[in-house]
Amino acid sequence: MDARQAAVSYILGYSGIHGSLRHLRDRYPDADRRLLHLMQGLDSAAALVRDGRIVAAAAEERFTGEKGTGDFPVQAIEYCLRTAGITAADLDVVAHSFHYTLDPDIAELDEDAAGQFASLYRPERQRELWRTLVGPMPRRDFVAVPHHVAHAHSALDLSGFDSAVVIVSDGMGETESMTVLRADTDGLRPILTVPASHSLGVLYSLVTHHLGFLPAMDEYKVMGLASFGDPDRFGDVFTDLVRLAPEGGYVIPLLTGEVDRRSQDLHEGALARLVDLFGPARQPGEELTQRHKDIAAGLQRRLEDLVLRTAEWARSTTGEARLCLAGGVALNCTANGRIVDSGLYDDVFVQPAAGDDGAALGAALAVSSRDGNPRVRMTMPYWGNAYRDETLREVAASTEGFVVEEFTDDRALAARVAGELADGKILAWFQGGMEFGPRALGNRSILADPRSSETRDLVNLRIKKREDFRPFAPAAKAESAAKFFEIKPGAEDQYAHMVVLTRTRPEHVAGLGAVTHVDGTTRVQTVRREHNVRFWELLDALEERIGVPVVLNTSFNVQGQPIVRTPQEAVATVRDARLDGLVLGRTYLRPVGVEAAR
Ligand SMILES: [Fe+2]
Repeated sequence: MDARQAAVSYILGYSGIHGSLRHLRDRYPDADRRLLHLMQGLDSAAALVRDGRIVAAAAEERFTGEKGTGDFPVQAIEYCLRTAGITAADLDVVAHSFHYTLDPDIAELDEDAAGQFASLYRPERQRELWRTLVGPMPRRDFVAVPHHVAHAHSALDLSGFDSAVVIVSDGMGETESMTVLRADTDGLRPILTVPASHSLGVLYSLVTHHLGFLPAMDEYKVMGLASFGDPDRFGDVFTDLVRLAPEGGYVIPLLTGEVDRRSQDLHEGALARLVDLFGPARQPGEELTQRHKDIAAGLQRRLEDLVLRTAEWARSTTGEARLCLAGGVALNCTANGRIVDSGLYDDVFVQPAAGDDGAALGAALAVSSRDGNPRVRMTMPYWGNAYRDETLREVAASTEGFVVEEFTDDRALAARVAGELADGKILAWFQGGMEFGPRALGNRSILADPRSSETRDLVNLRIKKREDFRPFAPAAKAESAAKFFEIKPGAEDQYAHMVVLTRTRPEHVAGLGAVTHVDGTTRVQTVRREHNVRFWELLDALEERIGVPVVLNTSFNVQGQPIVRTPQEAVATVRDARLDGLVLGRTYLRPVGVEAAR
């Protein structure tokens, strides 16, 4: 080993199961397309870790334009390598976020299962794909990391906690749907597992389907809808659907009754049972009635109660006072908010890419953690494609159809943009490195005045072309967030990544109508100057201009599209969505013909 090899260790993690969606499509050509989405292996991504530090991370969807794609993340891998200035031959370890093994009994009994395992899941298949689609094998190892171990590391290793409880909950890993682990400086030990056949995540996705939305994608819409419903109307039904088991566990008999292979893959029996329990399934686009809202509310409350119960059990069993959450269920910011509010734990950390994109990062960190790197609390996940101001200025200058204003300092830019927002303009905001995970955290955002609920309706219908019931989140200066939102002073950083729900303080609800949900809740992002100077300056300028250091912040995309990655995509989306302007680095682009604010 030469000196360079000894000094540097590059570990690349990736997620997704290539071809899984196509496999199901071919297998069940007549099946409801939305149901195919329930399968394992979406949200492929790549992440590169060098000596325990994250160099780059991005989801493949941002490159291909196919939201949630599970295809082998060739372009995300290329991006990671390019950012580090290395090639695949320089990688020490490649880690995949799944580790499937085939039960020999099943292989013998079920030819289909064996075929599916061979074409999709076996670890050797990943090596073949790597050789074909990327090239040279890594220098040291190509490893398969168990899915929930990857999720657990994606949170724990970025939490800064020496010891903690980690709750991983998602649709499913290889064989389980929830794993509770106890972590200390020696590593992670599971203390509770719930099998995949009793998955809270799958139940939530099936009800998402019943309500006319896309499973494994639109669960957050159901969460938003729940605020309009009465959780008691179907409370008893949900209590019966998910039954309590000892030691923090639970069972979901509904999911275990599928008799044949097709029903197991597509859950058709369980969906039929949901119709018996709740009435006809809503078709996409159909009107949302009070019944639908009450179903969403009942489901959401049951999920919250169960996650909270497991968190309570883990707290009393282990004595640990710190908690990490990961897996798709950890994107349920309402449930996260209940855990934080319960005061059960002194500190709760949710890594913002809690879904399977984050498992790519977790797979890399799982390997990296063996080197004994200290766990350091992450700040902001700006690990995607980054552009310098100079590049953005060149893009702005060469873009036709816009009036371009250039600014030489951040305060002047912030004052100008704040004036436009105060004047009712809806603007796109494109800065620096792209966020990893589903949330726009101030670098790929659409921004608007937070004060009036009319702005919310306007952004929903005119720009995002999405359902009018869906709330928008605010970003706020961290140092004054507790004045407007129910955040304990000192706990602001738990709200840095938009994954924990809180409430707008009652005296500010009327003044923050665009970013407060119907039930008074809000998913605020707290912004520190040292983590995003330009975004913070904008909030500061807004405080001066409109009296609140708050902005409506939603992801920079339109319905069905992933968040924009490049400045060129940003310009195209601004044109298509007819936004009032685009802030690109330190330039402000106004479409020709749109009047400037006075
Ligand atoms: Fe997962």
